[in-house]
Amino acid sequence: MNYEITKESTSNNNTFTLILLHEKDETKPQEKTLLDAMGFKCEQDTLSFIPTSRTLYSGITTKDDDSIRSSAAVATRHMLSKKLYTDIQILLNNQSSIDTLRATIEGVVLGNYAFTRYKSNQKIQLLKNLVIVVDSSLWDSMDEIKEIVKKAMIVAKSTNFVRDIVNTTPDDCYPKVMANIAKEIAKKYNLTCSILKPKELKKQKMETLLAVARASRHAPRVIHLAYTPQNPLYTITLVGKGLTYDSGGLSLKPSDYMTTMKSDKSGGCAVLGIMKAVSELEIPIEVHGFVGAVENMIGGDAYKPDDVLVAKNGKTIEVKNTDAEGRLVLADVLGYAQQKVKCDYIFDFATLTGACVVALGEYTSGIMGYADTPKNLLKEAAKNSGEMVAELPFNRHLKKLLKSEIADICNISSSRYGGAITAGLFLSEFINEENKDKWTHIDIAGPAFVEHNWGENPYGASGAGVRLMVSLLERLASSSK
Ligand code: BES
Ligand code: ZN
Ligand code: ZN
Repeated sequence: MNYEITKESTSNNNTFTLILLHEKDETKPQEKTLLDAMGFKCEQDTLSFIPTSRTLYSGITTKDDDSIRSSAAVATRHMLSKKLYTDIQILLNNQSSIDTLRATIEGVVLGNYAFTRYKSNQKIQLLKNLVIVVDSSLWDSMDEIKEIVKKAMIVAKSTNFVRDIVNTTPDDCYPKVMANIAKEIAKKYNLTCSILKPKELKKQKMETLLAVARASRHAPRVIHLAYTPQNPLYTITLVGKGLTYDSGGLSLKPSDYMTTMKSDKSGGCAVLGIMKAVSELEIPIEVHGFVGAVENMIGGDAYKPDDVLVAKNGKTIEVKNTDAEGRLVLADVLGYAQQKVKCDYIFDFATLTGACVVALGEYTSGIMGYADTPKNLLKEAAKNSGEMVAELPFNRHLKKLLKSEIADICNISSSRYGGAITAGLFLSEFINEENKDKWTHIDIAGPAFVEHNWGENPYGASGAGVRLMVSLLERLASSSK
């Protein structure tokens, strides 16, 4: 979607105007009468279209970023399905419309999304242009407006970019393809990129990752992207679970749990999207993104329940369930990332457990870790970002449930309860002592892929993690060290 910031509104037939309305008194008396006649009540995400002026009204119950973003997205998505217009126009005419500009633009761009790769006739035509009309009273704020629009476009487009990769099927997106996407991002956005293939992974002693990958015809990759601005304020490491398919392995998933497991690469894809966004935004923070791209399959060569694996950090792991594969992949990638980069904070993104979805529902990510500082950064960043997080607390009793009789640790807990937390505690075993307080695990199993529309998110991949982490990095950048 292209955008244009102008001083004059257009009234061509291909353009409709979007107005987000909190109260009908905020509009002209004539329009108010029409809206009254149509029974429009300004309720959140409800719409009313006035054809004569080609104006779409979308309700907002509260004037906060989350309501605005959602309302703009619902309105945009609705217009896509009508297939009548190619351009959307929004009007800025007071300070409040500047304050909510970022959320409005994000909503429009996030709503202007459809995954049509596998449709033989691509019925949905996306809107082509966004026209932002600035009233003369705000011309003094033009620079600020330009900056806000640019940021919103980058964040929303990066989110859509992640949605596209996650929605792609496992036969079209396997580890090598993810590595190629990383290389393309690196080239386009001036990042450094290194890709580890099986030979190097073996050299790096990433045996648990290799075990998970063994039964797949698609060899694994570990991706390392780095964004290194001059004089960075902080250094941040991001690690993503990139299971391009999770069949469960020999502990095979039942068929109705296996569908949607193309989305098990969401953490890795989020890391790719964040890397793209930070470099476009030129955030003064050094960011390293690591992705473990692996496919978990069955076959004569598959790793098994009863195997004991040795992780990169030397710890031995008794495999009791091959479907708890994400933590095995992350154990090695976390080890590699810590060896490669000394940083201020480490965040990992993973669709790690169904238990996290049971605990928090489909729309909220679980955050886990020992120290309050990085968890608080995430909680603050989530506010107004459009993403939701909630803490799942570690405790020593749950940690004991990972004990193994024959190895250092088991890959699953001995209890059926608290599975999201025990998975987080398992990962903590692969965080070096000096990094324990720098690390937070983010379980995105709920929001990464949802099989219906919700707010600004469409059916399927949401791009979870991108808006959250960009918000965190922007906040860090604007606070001095
Ligand atoms: N990828 C799944 C977790 C998942 C479930 C993500 C649902 C998104 C939606 C993960 O690899 C897995 O299978 N975890 C198991 C762990 C269990 C074997 C301890 C689970 O959640 O059932
Ligand atoms: Zn699994
Ligand atoms: Zn998985």
